[in-house]
Amino acid sequence: MPTLSIAERNDPIIRVRGLVTRFGSQTIHDGLDLDVMRGEVLGVVGGSGSGKTVLLRTIIGLDKPAAGSVEVLGHDVLDMPDTERQVLEKRCGVLFQDGALFSSMTVAENIEFALRENLDMPQELMEAIAALKIGLVGLPEDAAEKLPAQLSGGMRKRAALARALALDPEILFLDEPTSGLDPIAADGFDTLIEDLHGSLGLTVFMVTHDLDTLFTICDRIAVLVDKIVHVGTPEQLLRDAHPWIRAYLRGPRGRAAQEVGRQQRSLLGQPLLDGAL
Ligand SMILES: Nc1ncnc2c1ncn2[C@@H]1O[C@H](COP(=O)(O)OP(=O)(O)OP(=O)(O)O)[C@@H](O)[C@H]1O
Ligand SMILES: [Mg+2]
Repeated sequence: MPTLSIAERNDPIIRVRGLVTRFGSQTIHDGLDLDVMRGEVLGVVGGSGSGKTVLLRTIIGLDKPAAGSVEVLGHDVLDMPDTERQVLEKRCGVLFQDGALFSSMTVAENIEFALRENLDMPQELMEAIAALKIGLVGLPEDAAEKLPAQLSGGMRKRAALARALALDPEILFLDEPTSGLDPIAADGFDTLIEDLHGSLGLTVFMVTHDLDTLFTICDRIAVLVDKIVHVGTPEQLLRDAHPWIRAYLRGPRGRAAQEVGRQQRSLLGQPLLDGAL
């Protein structure tokens, strides 16, 4: 976990205001406001189809909203020249929900592809960087030469993360990074994200269904309900009266996850959640 408090890091690196997103007659977001602070891990939750992936895609400029403003690292994402967009893209790493690695390329080639697209550097240097990223995400050296199909689900997620980290981003966007993993692999992935966040000083925007992840590694949680977000620390959201949030965080799974979070924080000597178990 980071050593700075939220207040000390009171510097929005992402600022979303009055966001309205529509697909045909369907309104997904309706006047959504959100700040993501530099250096925090923000967990984004909400029901299936509530618009979490669309929010992530809108923030990185892939989906165009009907109204509102989106600023990332001081850039107006909705109105910027292509050259500026390319610079911004280098500063943001993304792990999409489907993890999509190129299936015909090895893990190393997948990482090198991201480097080649954005930087002009000799092949040897790209290979060295790919090897470094593979080590960084805890994959064995020989994973470099494997195709995605030759890896386990957990290893594939790590490989996709290595690719997202190829350009040393400041912000890491993760969409359901632990979905489909068994609980032990999911815990391992959480620990990896937490370690990377601590050692690289990353800001992490993470869409997740995993309550253990929320209570263990997230500084704040944004819950997408009624087309807007309710944002707060886990403690604050445990007191939120919205029925979906209550049912989600304080249902049996939520209570079990709070206990996991308590134990982990206690082991790490961090403040305990004071939520109602
Ligand atoms: N390109 C698109 N065209 C039309 N509708 C879309 C498009 N992308 C998303 N939607 C719709 O927007 C809504 C929100 O989708 P989104 O993928 O953001 O949900 P989500 O919260 O990420 O759900 P899940 O937890 O299942 O991943 C859904 O109803 C989806 O069908
Ligand atoms: Mg989604």
